Amino acid sequence: MSSGCRICGGKLHEFLDMGKQPSANGFIDPAETSDEFQFRLALGTCVGCGMVQLVEEVPQERRYHENYRYHASGSVLHRRHFENEAGRLLGAELNGSDPFIVEIGCNDGVLLSTVAEAGIRHLGVDPSTNVVELARSRGVRAVTEFFDAGLGESLRDEHGHADVIFGANTICHIAHIDSLFRGVDALLAPSGVFVFEEPYLGTVLDHKAFDQIYDEHVFYFGVASVAAMAERFGFELVDVERTPLHGGEIRYTLARRGARSVRDSVGALLAEEQAAGITDPGTWRRFGLEIDNIREELTRLLRRLSSEGRRVVGYGAPGKTSTVTNYCGIDSDLLPFVCDSTRSKQGLLIPGSHIPVLPPEAFSNPYPDYALMFAWNHADEIMAKESEFTASGGHWIRYVPEVRID
Ligand code: TYD
Ligand code: ZN
Repeated sequence: MSSGCRICGGKLHEFLDMGKQPSANGFIDPAETSDEFQFRLALGTCVGCGMVQLVEEVPQERRYHENYRYHASGSVLHRRHFENEAGRLLGAELNGSDPFIVEIGCNDGVLLSTVAEAGIRHLGVDPSTNVVELARSRGVRAVTEFFDAGLGESLRDEHGHADVIFGANTICHIAHIDSLFRGVDALLAPSGVFVFEEPYLGTVLDHKAFDQIYDEHVFYFGVASVAAMAERFGFELVDVERTPLHGGEIRYTLARRGARSVRDSVGALLAEEQAAGITDPGTWRRFGLEIDNIREELTRLLRRLSSEGRRVVGYGAPGKTSTVTNYCGIDSDLLPFVCDSTRSKQGLLIPGSHIPVLPPEAFSNPYPDYALMFAWNHADEIMAKESEFTASGGHWIRYVPEVRID
């Protein structure tokens, strides 16, 4: 049950209930489908600080473990993006004498491998042993831990202050945000920056990207709510920038209060959020109705295609696939399989909906009539790779921001 806002203790106003759902990256073995873990996927906004967050949560040990299926280096888009980001940090922040960067949630080393190649002192922190092994194989120094207050202090004692603490698609996953900030406070140098890049609430709203909502995303950050969170913990939001991953994220730069001047970008995005009514309850009531419509249209379309004898399969098994299939009630009768290039997901089932995940070769053997694009944030890369599919008469189905056939 909800015990209030994880940041300020305020009351949560629940505005969306997506029903019982599994842990989205909890892919399961076909032999072990009984007793699957479930929780109620619901969102609320804090009446005190405005932070949108899950009402109920899944324990972090269940989400991040020795077999975490998400690999950040899984696409060219991601690899290039983090190479650029590492380059930017090396040029702008890690240019003093013996600089040091810590990444919270370093995953397979997609960012830190570039830092390591530049010979800069770094440390990755990630609770999932399998991805940490991958990072190490790329020359990245990393420890298998959850980042919290105690770890921040012990890292400072061992390595000294960090000039940059970085996180990508990680900070919004961490429910113990208070302890995290105390750890950042202990570890960060007086003039250092805490930079994180996370899914954006505004994108969820604009793209009707309801499939960004799942257990791992405990918080749904916006500029106003992150500014309030920073202030609460003694920091200041000094810069924001839109970045392209996952359909549109924001990179937040926090510094110690008063340590840096605040860029105009912060005020500009705050004004945009206000104009969009991002914190108005009415906005999210409408969002709930809109995604109900998407659910109806998508299931109607899949049923019609099935009754006409058309073959439809899914493309991509990101965390999103779990939310969509479970929220819409799409099972293996409607969608016999999804294909995904991540080896560790292949041969397993999408949690909850139990749709099998097959390797990409299954897609062309033979091509289906329609393919439902779950990895829509990688659509350009995938559609270019699978151009034969459309050339041979196949069609892509999209479901955000609306159901359409291309
Ligand atoms: P991603 O959007 O990065 O992650 P999530 O939504 O879980 O945070 O996941 C993209 C998924 O799509 C990932 O499982 C790999 C898969 N994929 C393919 O199967 N083929 C491809 O060409 C690409 C780019 C991704
Ligand atoms: Zn709050």
